[in-house]
Amino acid sequence: MKKSFIAVAVVASVASLALAACSSGGSGGSGGDKASTRACVILPDSASSPRWENGDRPALAKAFKDAGFDADIQNAQGDTGKYATIAQQELTKGCGVMVLVDYNGAATAVTQKAQKQGIPVIAYDRPITTGDASDPKMLADYYVSFDNVKVGELEGQSIVDGLKAAGKDAATAKVVYMGGDPTDGNAKLFHDGAVKAMSAAGIKPAAEPVGIWDGQKSATNFEQALTSLGGQVDAVWVANDTNAAGVITILDKNHLTVPVSGQDASTAGLQNVLLGKQTSTVYKPFKLEADAASKLAIELLKGKKPSVADSLYGKPFIAVTPILITADKVQQVIDGGDAKASDICTAEVQAACAKYGVK
Ligand code: BGC
Repeated sequence: MKKSFIAVAVVASVASLALAACSSGGSGGSGGDKASTRACVILPDSASSPRWENGDRPALAKAFKDAGFDADIQNAQGDTGKYATIAQQELTKGCGVMVLVDYNGAATAVTQKAQKQGIPVIAYDRPITTGDASDPKMLADYYVSFDNVKVGELEGQSIVDGLKAAGKDAATAKVVYMGGDPTDGNAKLFHDGAVKAMSAAGIKPAAEPVGIWDGQKSATNFEQALTSLGGQVDAVWVANDTNAAGVITILDKNHLTVPVSGQDASTAGLQNVLLGKQTSTVYKPFKLEADAASKLAIELLKGKKPSVADSLYGKPFIAVTPILITADKVQQVIDGGDAKASDICTAEVQAACAKYGVK
């Protein structure tokens, strides 16, 4: 704990030196000048969840703009090579801080490069770590995310409650575990939380395909698991809405309706929740996460040394609280400005919207 704060103080003071050096060149708005006040952001992809482009990008852009800072927000589109290229381009143009969502480990080298140049790095949503997966060390200077173990716990508890509502015995229920991509440090946190809730109720995995962030591959993996179980399943713990949508296509094909979890409160996820095909989704108001990250980034851009009470893997950690959404709570996401009734309540979903008062 102590050690991490010293490291943060050093990085922050290096950043303030860099800032002072840049601003001594005058305030004519040249590229060099701008560099010290620019936040460089890299998002991971757009297919594994609609959140990155629809939720995080606008929220981050607005937060920096409102505070009077430039943000260069790029998306690596699920390509580690592209991730490195974007980072190089951003660093060449100049960054006062980097806000990185890891993709398949690509953020590690970028973080090291930025830190060598005295640029602080905020790991956004996904941890950026080094070392053994069983004992990771946070490489980024700060980590801003949700309480991801809690996200998993809410998902796992939703499966437990769903089985109970269906009159199934948790101890003998056939539950398939469909986790996220293990190269994303969040996948382990979601899994830890979900397993904690499910094993407390006596649930054991009946099948557990390798984790992935991909709706179509999740469908394929789930179909294989279902076949291996002789077509019998009582519930599916699924890490996010995109993967859940894939799993649900296979359940539909087999005329099965069982408890299914998810996260992101995506339009498709909320529709599945309203239709009774998904038990719940975990709502993570991206604006709160983007606001926390941009506030921190702005402090760093000003050369300050923000202190944060919590830590994860040895570095300061800001954790936003996630919210469980069942059909009767869908309106909460709309009221929060993170979904639109006009997108959700399409023909097939209209009756369910009326039933649950979604407008
Ligand atoms: C995020 C989730 C997202 C998943 C796939 C995770 O790291 O926390 O919100 O659904 O990645 O993009």
